[in-house]
Amino acid sequence: CGKKEEAAPAAAASAPAETPPARVYVVGTDAAYAPFESQNEKGEIVGFDIDVVSAVAQKAGIQVKFVNTPWEGMFNTVAQGDRDLLVSAITITDERKQTMDFSAPYFDAQQLIAVKEDSKVAKFEDLKKLKVGVQTGTTGDEVVTKLIGKDSTAIKRFESTPLALKELESGGVDAVVADNGVVIHYVANNAGSKFKTVSDTTFTPEQYGIVVKKGNAELLEKINKGLADIKADGTYDKIYASWFGA
Ligand code: ARG
Repeated sequence: CGKKEEAAPAAAASAPAETPPARVYVVGTDAAYAPFESQNEKGEIVGFDIDVVSAVAQKAGIQVKFVNTPWEGMFNTVAQGDRDLLVSAITITDERKQTMDFSAPYFDAQQLIAVKEDSKVAKFEDLKKLKVGVQTGTTGDEVVTKLIGKDSTAIKRFESTPLALKELESGGVDAVVADNGVVIHYVANNAGSKFKTVSDTTFTPEQYGIVVKKGNAELLEKINKGLADIKADGTYDKIYASWFGA
């Protein structure tokens, strides 16, 4: 939670210097991606990404506020200035780098396939003849689209990854392709869904970065400095261990 502004002294004797209120940087996140970002029972946004950015902000001496932001259109919010930062398990890609700036990488990821326990799917290629669920516009969507073809009706696109996984449970799709951390977390916490994971060596390594508006070098520098600081002093490792185990 954000710290309250210190109250200004009631009456200054001479010319009162107007101190502008400390700036609060608005951080957009699609909080349906546990354990990276999700909403707890109280509706608070929590997760690994949230802890990382909060720690970075503390080192950088800036205040941040997290705002739940749908994944679709999220990149526009930072371009338009509605959000100052984005943290949302966002994979750094060359294409995205053309329209936004990324911090140094803060997390390694890879795509992972979720299927029902009794599925015969053993590798990514096996999805070619099946119905596959993805979150629209994610790197999972990109790899599946490449495999199956852009206009294929065999790809079902969802606005969130949990929705895609629900569809797998109800049998509307045969597989879901999403980031490993999220798939592993879901399978571990939804034993009743009877899912298993299938990895594939053809998936390329991905790295998450924190996004700022293209050209906002000043803010990016603060973020990168803060990131380097939390990596150097053990804060990052503590946060990592608290969400993923040591
Ligand atoms: N890493 C993937 C990507 O950048 C998926 C991220 C989805 N994040 C989320 N909070 N829904 O495309």
